[in-house]
Amino acid sequence: SRVAVIKGGPSAEREVSLSTGNACANALREAGYDVVEVDAGPDLPARLIEIKPDVVFNALHGRWGEDGCVQGLLEWLRIPYTHSGVLASSLAMDKQRSKDVYRAAGLPVAESVIVAREEVEKAHVLPPPYVVKPNNEGSSVGVYIVHPGSNAPRLAAEMPAEVMVEAYAPGRELSISVMGDRALCVTDIITDGWYDYDAKYKPGGSRHEVPAALPPDVEAACLDYALRAHQALGCRGLSRTDIRWDEAKGVDGLILLETNTQPGMTPTSLSPEQAAHLGISFPQLCAWIVEDASC
Ligand code: DAL
Ligand code: MG
Repeated sequence: SRVAVIKGGPSAEREVSLSTGNACANALREAGYDVVEVDAGPDLPARLIEIKPDVVFNALHGRWGEDGCVQGLLEWLRIPYTHSGVLASSLAMDKQRSKDVYRAAGLPVAESVIVAREEVEKAHVLPPPYVVKPNNEGSSVGVYIVHPGSNAPRLAAEMPAEVMVEAYAPGRELSISVMGDRALCVTDIITDGWYDYDAKYKPGGSRHEVPAALPPDVEAACLDYALRAHQALGCRGLSRTDIRWDEAKGVDGLILLETNTQPGMTPTSLSPEQAAHLGISFPQLCAWIVEDASC
């Protein structure tokens, strides 16, 4: 069948999406699909009407592609598409609102508030250490860590008018992919500093331990939390939930950061590695995502 892989787009994660899209398009060709690649610009609706794909493989990340916007367009055009639908995409992209959903599902989160950027620059909104981040971006774009003893941060001009200020959750960076109704496994991400944009995408920028060597109760809780987060948000297909773990507190030291409804599928990304660990090749993973599409 014919699959249109939509990639790129205007978000801050454009380059990441091009990398995800290229990798998935190649894998789908290998799996036998007729693949058309589309860089998502303002002519996207016209291109899709012209191409008439059986399925759209959504390889977009960030705003417009991961937040329900393109999902709404695809619903309108009645083209089955991969990954989550409108509501789950929108909720998961809003870090503050996803915490409300997690809390209601009994999942642990860090305290946070949404504040005007001027307030953030004037004085500490929370006692340091805390994190300032856009409420709706990915790949650690625009994330500031404010350490004890430092001043209130100056934010870059590109930061939105309102930002999230979140109590810093210390500890190890864990990540768990969910494929449908199955949590795959836990990856422990080992970095020199923190897991920022470069550590995420530069080859060798971080080391991934797959599966993470964790106490059995912590591992089980991670898998359970990721599946419950996926279900509570109403996600479909593949998602990936990021967790912090304060080892000293055992299973009580787990904090959910966010669920990504369009997890990266680049050569340095986590979900393909987790699938591979379970014997699912990259072309098989991409084909599963296509077969799971709906609208
Ligand atoms: N936002 C990036 C693509 C990820 O979570 O993998
Ligand atoms: Mg993210």
